[in-house]
Amino acid sequence: MSKASDKKLLVQAAELREQLNAHSHRYHVQDDPIISDAEYDALMNELWVLETAHPELITLDSPTQRVGGAIAEGFAKVRHPRPILSLSNAFGADDVRAWRDRIGKYAEQLLGVDFDPTRLDDYVVEPKIDGLTVVLNYDNGLFKQGATRGNGTEGEDITANLRTIKGLPLGLRDDRQRNHPSSVVRRPSALYVRGEAYMTLRAFKQMNDALQAAGEKTFANPRNFAAGSLRQLDPKLTAQRPLNIFCYAVLAPSSPAPDATASDIPNTQWGLLAWLRELGFPVSTIAKRFTDLDEVIAYCQSYVAKRDALPFEIDGMVIKLNDQVLAEQLGYVGKDPRGALAFKFPAREATTILKDIKIRIGRTGNIVPNAVLEPVSVGGITISNATLHNFEDVARKDIRIGDRVIVKRAGDVIPYVAGPVVAARTGQERVIEPPTHCPFCDTLLTRREGEVALYCLNDDCPGKLDRAIAHYVGRGAMDIDSLGDKIVAQLIEAELIEDVADLYALTKEQLVELEKFGDKKAEKLLASIGTSKQQTLERLVVGLGIRHIGEVAARALAQYYGGLDALLQAKPEELQEIEGVGPVIAQSVTEWIASAGNRALIAKLQHYGVNPVQEVRRNAPPTQGPFTGKVFVITGTLSQERDVIAVWVTERGGKVTDSVSKKTSYVVVGESPGASKISKAQQLNIPMLSEEELLNLEIKK
Ligand code: IVH
Repeated sequence: MSKASDKKLLVQAAELREQLNAHSHRYHVQDDPIISDAEYDALMNELWVLETAHPELITLDSPTQRVGGAIAEGFAKVRHPRPILSLSNAFGADDVRAWRDRIGKYAEQLLGVDFDPTRLDDYVVEPKIDGLTVVLNYDNGLFKQGATRGNGTEGEDITANLRTIKGLPLGLRDDRQRNHPSSVVRRPSALYVRGEAYMTLRAFKQMNDALQAAGEKTFANPRNFAAGSLRQLDPKLTAQRPLNIFCYAVLAPSSPAPDATASDIPNTQWGLLAWLRELGFPVSTIAKRFTDLDEVIAYCQSYVAKRDALPFEIDGMVIKLNDQVLAEQLGYVGKDPRGALAFKFPAREATTILKDIKIRIGRTGNIVPNAVLEPVSVGGITISNATLHNFEDVARKDIRIGDRVIVKRAGDVIPYVAGPVVAARTGQERVIEPPTHCPFCDTLLTRREGEVALYCLNDDCPGKLDRAIAHYVGRGAMDIDSLGDKIVAQLIEAELIEDVADLYALTKEQLVELEKFGDKKAEKLLASIGTSKQQTLERLVVGLGIRHIGEVAARALAQYYGGLDALLQAKPEELQEIEGVGPVIAQSVTEWIASAGNRALIAKLQHYGVNPVQEVRRNAPPTQGPFTGKVFVITGTLSQERDVIAVWVTERGGKVTDSVSKKTSYVVVGESPGASKISKAQQLNIPMLSEEELLNLEIKK
């Protein structure tokens, strides 16, 4: 190769590298790509071809070098430049205030009259990512080595695996790339950065589903999955497991060099985060600065609820003194720095013993195994029973009576049993056999095509009545809030009700006969049952519990028919024409209104004065907006009422429907989503969005 062509190739490779790294940074760190994946792949291929022909062009920060390390036999030990510290915990506002008092007094003692107390009340609050601490070593701007925390002094060399993390900069950005040549931020020649590697909830779910489909062992949570991935001996396997990283601290400039001195590193935490961001490190956007401790506490507490909307797991917030000089001066208690504090959230996972299985029957006749548990506190609430979804799930997870099981609960979501702790088995556990007959009416159970759940198809099964009533009086339906499960059970037990219409025939004399019922309680209940007659048609239709009819379809039906009489006359062809009603729903409504029992129920409701009517609105022109032409399906629990989200989508011209089909544009996935909706979406390749992604969705025309 001639000197001239040599130089040309060198420049070409450098340019490709720079472009690719800049695009990768936009995509993985800034979340703001400006080229398509295909264009990126084409550039990557170009570099690949060039480097394969001229291996001497390969540099350490080349994006082609993210994967490709050889399979290791074990991990070498790496000594950290200084010990990796941990954090002391706070479990509420009082603990935070006590910490502030404690370090205030300590600082006064330590620094005496020189201490200016206003230096203390300046804080940075960051999310406490539930991942794994890693230490990244950059030498002359290039990622040289990365290690696990290990014992705090010595970790394991997982450089090849860390390289596969797309958001991790292989080379630090210099002034030119940052587009401000006069920047005071210089690229340091030596730097140790601390960060937290993690897996997003969505990646975790997808990867676990894939492992399960392949019959392989799944992981209990994203943290375990990330840990397992980083300790893979074959980096190619790690590369297939999408990991991310957030960086939040500098451990040391390892050796002062002319262009990188300790004085380059900002001496406030807020400045440090900005500096890390400038150099190309992913830094959490949730981090916030405060000068008032009450605001710090309020911000931490606000994430107890907001954590569910985040795409990754956090187990708390970290409160740090912004003044890092002061933080250094304050020193440590054992392994915990005085200048920082973890505000821990209540754990959402615990283990306990599965004592027994009780069968519950769903509103639609589906048989649900319910776990009877040794009481355990999860997320601040004591749980003594939890759902096991269905018997297929029990068999697949191999859950046995007597097992120690993992119980999970997220936000407001119903607790469930995630799986057994197999290592804790004693051999005394009992395998659970699915029932063949309904425990309430002894009808032979059946399985619907394409579904795993067992069903009792007896319409008069007494086991269904309490669920049907609970659904009818529920918040999304008739909203009779003084009618809780216990009272429903009492009413059924006393044979006062056989269907929902019987609620309207209850009398005070009947009620006061019941245990724990005084005049007041009886009157209150009758009043709220009476008030429910004023509920809208839409809510009544939800309350009837017709299979597949959710809030969206119920609203569409109510708007189209305007009343119960018209609804009972609905024709299959007509139903399918209605916006928001697909073939599955049309079929279900047709079957429901054909049943004599159901028609009698409607007549009975009307007799008691439950007969809401509303204005008929057919085919109102849809609102135009950014979502015009897009069809959304929502599954699982979101941070806001589903109705609120549906209205938000509609206002932007979009449509929300109840079932996933080819016409669906996006599936919005909340906590505990419906398994069938998710698998349908995967089958049809429909993009899935978190609530946050929906709210930030910009549809490119
Ligand atoms: S600061 C001296 N900041 O939480 C600095 N830690 O329970 C101590 N963690 O071992 C750590 N996010 O693995 C810090 N924004 C954050 C963090 C964070 C997660 C982890 C870290 C640490 C553990 C302490």
